[in-house]
Amino acid sequence: MVIIITGASRGLGWAMAEAFAADQQGHTLVLMARDAARLQQAAMQLQARFSQTTVLHYACQLGQQAQLPALQQWLQQHAPVADVLINNAGYFVPGSVHAEAEGNLEAMLEANLLSAYQLTRLVLPGMMSHGRGHVFNICSIASLKAYPGGGSYSISKFALYGFGQNLREEMKPHGIKVTNVMPGATWTDSWAGSGIPPERLMEAQDIASMVYACAHLSPQAVVEDIVMRPQPGDL
Ligand SMILES: NC(=O)c1ccc[n+]([C@@H]2O[C@H](COP(=O)([O-])OP(=O)(O)OC[C@H]3O[C@@H](n4cnc5c(N)ncnc54)[C@H](OP(=O)(O)O)[C@@H]3O)[C@@H](O)[C@H]2O)c1
Repeated sequence: MVIIITGASRGLGWAMAEAFAADQQGHTLVLMARDAARLQQAAMQLQARFSQTTVLHYACQLGQQAQLPALQQWLQQHAPVADVLINNAGYFVPGSVHAEAEGNLEAMLEANLLSAYQLTRLVLPGMMSHGRGHVFNICSIASLKAYPGGGSYSISKFALYGFGQNLREEMKPHGIKVTNVMPGATWTDSWAGSGIPPERLMEAQDIASMVYACAHLSPQAVVEDIVMRPQPGDL
């Protein structure tokens, strides 16, 4: 399989990349993130551990219209048809509509929504020409329910879930699966310095295991939504 994972240099994206890379079958992984040096290091580490897998990487700021022509050209050359696309890149800044910094919403819509929308539009023609494919959108429990301090992050994740639900309907006749993943708090770099003990949160591997399992069902089955929370509940 050809598997594209955004935000794959650390956190959930890295855990998902590890899960697919470890598959004995051997896949082609395309890893994306902004920081080119860190991404290259992540790709090299995976390649060294899993020789059956081919690990490619492409650094860019997803969600920026200006990056698309170069990205499209690179994909045409290296991964013209993807089997799995995991829209995971994104970030979290707490805030509130009335008090957060100017530009918060625009920046988070770019990173958390447009990143997925734009890349999916580049990848879909290849999937549609083969009549198969699977798009995962890493949303959040913040896509499901508003909460104090959610602000633009929660708004952007509601929007990503809306994107995923629309895509699911649209892709039904094309044999392409769409799965929206709504994780609760999961230990990654984004929680470093929060003072919350890692044992209180889920592990990135928990999310990766579910995504991996969903990607390996029969062609006639799709998991539409995955909702996961730490066992004691939300923070
Ligand atoms: N951890 C949680 O508790 C949790 C819960 C629910 C949902 N999520 C969602 O899961 C996803 C991953 O979260 P995480 O905790 O693993 O985050 P993380 O540890 O901060 O990792 C984020 C990854 O995304 C990349 N990235 C960020 N913005 C990007 C952009 N515009 N273009 C390309 N790459 C970008 C980062 O690399 P660069 O910095 O080099 O670009 C990094 O590889 C996010 O969408 C997040 O909202 C996380």
